Amino acid sequence: MLITQQDTILIVDDISTNIKVLLDFLDNSNFTVSVAKNGESALRKAQEELPQLILLDVMMPGIDGFETCRRLKANPKTKDIPVIFMTALSDVLDKVKGLQLGAVDYITKPFQHEEVLARINVHLELRKTQLNLVQQEKMSSLGQLVAGVAHEINNPVNFIEGNLHHAAHYLHQLLKLLHLYEIYTDDSIPDIENYSKSIELEFIKKDLCKLLSSMRVGTERIQEIVRSLRIFSRLDEAERKSVNLHDGIDSTLMILGSRLKQTQKHPEIEVVKKYANLPLVECYPGLINQVFMNILANAIDAIQSFVKEKGQIRITTEVTADEKSVLIRIADNGVGISEDVKQKIFDQFFTTKPVGNGTGLGLAIAYCIVVEKHGGTLTCHSKLKEGTEFIITLPLYSNPEEVGDI
Ligand SMILES: Nc1ncnc2c1ncn2[C@@H]1O[C@H](COP(=O)(O)OP(=O)(O)OP(=O)(O)O)[C@@H](O)[C@H]1O
Ligand SMILES: [Mg+2]
Repeated sequence: MLITQQDTILIVDDISTNIKVLLDFLDNSNFTVSVAKNGESALRKAQEELPQLILLDVMMPGIDGFETCRRLKANPKTKDIPVIFMTALSDVLDKVKGLQLGAVDYITKPFQHEEVLARINVHLELRKTQLNLVQQEKMSSLGQLVAGVAHEINNPVNFIEGNLHHAAHYLHQLLKLLHLYEIYTDDSIPDIENYSKSIELEFIKKDLCKLLSSMRVGTERIQEIVRSLRIFSRLDEAERKSVNLHDGIDSTLMILGSRLKQTQKHPEIEVVKKYANLPLVECYPGLINQVFMNILANAIDAIQSFVKEKGQIRITTEVTADEKSVLIRIADNGVGISEDVKQKIFDQFFTTKPVGNGTGLGLAIAYCIVVEKHGGTLTCHSKLKEGTEFIITLPLYSNPEEVGDI
């Protein structure tokens, strides 16, 4: 699965002619290029713009390239951005030191355009592959855990359900027998009469049946949960399949269920669903559930960081006017997104959450799955302090030839 938005490269060099040479051919090669003329400004820009790759000069006034690299690697936000050093052809020591500091490669001046491009592309590809592995690992371990739990619950719940059926039957027979005793036994036996009163026999007779039926409702509920867990994990379904998207949304909501409840710190989040009568949609169901998961988890985060009274997530589905696609809107009344931030939300690693809380991959992956993998669209409308709406469109059928590979 490749993320093919335009890659941003940060060039760090104090010499204008060097910058110009690089700018000319990188611009032509369809990269978005940003420039810093010293180490301090490079550190600032790297943290703000989170480029996909940094080309770093060694000799600069102020903090040199080595120190800049050391600080980039020490900052959790920038430590994973690949750094390529730019050194003079003869500086073997520089090359070694740079690599020891965590740089992935070096290019030598004067620049050979083809070589520079080849090295940049190799490292961009490596980084993307690494990212995808991380995300796949995350989802597949969640999927495996969920599938494992579902499997383990399924067996015991099935025998409870099976035995409940027999228990109800036996109970019915025993009650009938009791009734016969009551008719044919002289009710003046004081021990029996006293004991019946003390245990409130008439109440027990009525309550036992109610009790069994609520146990039956309970087991049905657990079976539904198991079904949802299975739909969510869909480990067995790596193929394209025609599925009911509402099942995917509902199973994801169920997994996130505990985050919707009120706690001491957070308000309750109400989920309002307006589902249209959707046809089955041909897609990779496991991947689409991953999209729902990422967007809904973000909505919950946005509500919890902002709303004090009552959070609300509205999910609406409809078929588009041309009847060729379905549209899913997921809206929240959370903190909202400023215009500035909105430009970057689909970028890999862009996050406004504290280190450790967000990796900044959720929406980049969602975009990749919806747009590149399914030929759909993913857009966002938001107003700061009012809320955010993500709109997903998915074609009912997409030609696998025309869309990307996993
Ligand atoms: N519903 C939303 N409301 C407000 N901001 C949002 C919403 N969804 C996304 N964002 C913003 O977009 C950023 C990127 O989201 P994304 O899901 O890609 O990464 P993340 O949630 O920060 O980390 P993770 O990789 O764990 O998902 C978020 O940090 C947040 O600032
Ligand atoms: Mg997220």
